[in-house]
Amino acid sequence: MNEQITEQEINAAGHLTIGGCDTLKLAHQYGTPLVVYDVAKIRDQIRRFRRVFETNHVAYAVSYASKAFAAVAMYQVAAAEGAHVDVVSAGELYTAIKAGFPMERVSFHGNNKSRAELLMAIRHHVGFIMLDNFHEIDLLADLLEQEDATIKVMLRITPGISAHTNKYIQTGQVDSKFGFDLQSGQADEALKRVLANPRMKMKGLHAHIGSQIFELAGFEGVAKKLVEVANHWQKQYGYQAEIINVGGGFGIRYVNADHPLMPEEFVDAIIKTIKKVVAQTDLTMPAIWIEPGRSIVGPAGYNLYTVGSRKDVPGLKSYVTVDGGMGDNIRPALYHAQYETVLAADPHAPLKEHVRLAGKYCESGDILSQDQALPATKPGDVLAMLDTGAYGYSMASNYNRNPRPAVVFAENGHSQVVIARESLADLVHLDRPYKAND
Ligand code: LLP
Repeated sequence: MNEQITEQEINAAGHLTIGGCDTLKLAHQYGTPLVVYDVAKIRDQIRRFRRVFETNHVAYAVSYASKAFAAVAMYQVAAAEGAHVDVVSAGELYTAIKAGFPMERVSFHGNNKSRAELLMAIRHHVGFIMLDNFHEIDLLADLLEQEDATIKVMLRITPGISAHTNKYIQTGQVDSKFGFDLQSGQADEALKRVLANPRMKMKGLHAHIGSQIFELAGFEGVAKKLVEVANHWQKQYGYQAEIINVGGGFGIRYVNADHPLMPEEFVDAIIKTIKKVVAQTDLTMPAIWIEPGRSIVGPAGYNLYTVGSRKDVPGLKSYVTVDGGMGDNIRPALYHAQYETVLAADPHAPLKEHVRLAGKYCESGDILSQDQALPATKPGDVLAMLDTGAYGYSMASNYNRNPRPAVVFAENGHSQVVIARESLADLVHLDRPYKAND
């Protein structure tokens, strides 16, 4: 019995539904592999985060980290739900612009923003530049002068806190590539430079300790650390931070054995810590910002695949192969990420065997699950992999020249394509024939 699927998500035919749409019909209508989002789940998650701040009567922003899944439709939903967004590239910013996302609610992150990216941000009146390093401060100063513009900024601090998560998705430890170091005085130096520049409107500080975090301690630690830095800055430089941004990283359930805290519990602990530490200082209570990515879109996303070939070797675990794989979800290969997968036609069907769920890519490492319990399956069956909404499509590739899947939004029994399936022609769209010079 899969704990992630509720009775409401199974229709009269016994099929898994997403946003009220029958998954077998979705697979038939749009083809597989297919990425489907339950839009109500996305909305609900943003609302839950917002509600905690409102109940606690603190100024806040829920800034969706759009690297988890960026698409015009996704920025539209985030805008409608009153969220801010983080972007980390000209491409994400461009997509937000195309979606008509309010630019004053955009924060631009990144540890090596280019001149062109910063210029684009200035010209489109992006709300906040999250300054990461001295090179960037100089670059931005230069561009603001050239454009005769001003912009709001925050400083990204490396808090020296290690989160207990995969090392590729840790970001807060002292030797992280992100942000200004505290101990060596770099963060103070950055503050002085920003305050000395009348074109930069210093708004606050930011830190992000990592991703898929299950414990409160890291968030409480970073919240406390940021208030301490703000307090030091007020005492030393007379600067009062208006915003404290503790980043994202709230863990979600991927497999039944995961037991993450509710989003409310994470945010409540952050708010309580900040209130408590601020009360011990002369600081005015700052606004609290969070940047969830995975927790907003992860549980709302599903990958639908069709079963194809099978390999049975006596004494070894069988391979069941689907029509997608590492091109639409690199996470199992890259991070040993695990997911639950069910038979779309009967999600609670009795489990018959443990198999390796393989992808179709020409690489032994293209295994979506090393150990997946499944009912008996046959070619043509549709499988639904659960909780794939974060860093799945957004990290998709055209490896082996496979087209990327379509993305469908489903809500209230209606579905629509929000990213079209790539065609074979799309795959050669950027290719140019070579004319040999002999
Ligand atoms: N804020 C900043 C500054 C970040 O760097 C990130 C994620 C987030 C917020 C959102 O974190 P989230 O709430 O989604 O955990 N590709 C990896 C995850 C990389 C996360 C990068 N930064 C994965 O598939 O697990």
